[in-house]
Amino acid sequence: MPLISVIHGPNLNLLGTREPEIYGSQTLDDINSALRRKADELGLDIEFFQSNHEGQLVDHIQSCRERTQGIIINAAAYTHTSVAIRDAISALGPDLPSIEVHLSVPGAREAFRKNNLLEDVVRGRIEGFQGLSYLLALSALSTIVATRG
Ligand code: DQA
Repeated sequence: MPLISVIHGPNLNLLGTREPEIYGSQTLDDINSALRRKADELGLDIEFFQSNHEGQLVDHIQSCRERTQGIIINAAAYTHTSVAIRDAISALGPDLPSIEVHLSVPGAREAFRKNNLLEDVVRGRIEGFQGLSYLLALSALSTIVATRG
């Protein structure tokens, strides 16, 4: 079964209580549980990783190359600042599809969130649907992985 890695960046461990008017009321466990149910339906294996630390996120992304068939990443604030995370995604190469996810629409918020260092190294981006963004990304990734045989 193809393995998909879902990667959550800084402060996403606080979902549920963190600015629910922006990010929704689902906790990270709620989102991960919904993803696991959907992965079961789609015939995908799934794993989850959350860190508040840039280097740990880079290490995890590097580890995905040999182990996984696709990644879903919400790099959170690092989306706007991290060349290291951008380079790690880029180094995965074109054969490992990656989908960027956001709960909100960062570009419609403060000016500093318009800067996105990941947008040209990911396969695509889904944003603005709170927890549903992740499920839509999993659905897209499932089709991409299946059509590659
Ligand atoms: C976020 C948007 C980022 O700008 C922010 O720093 C986050 C969450 C989102 O999912 O909407 O932490 O990635």
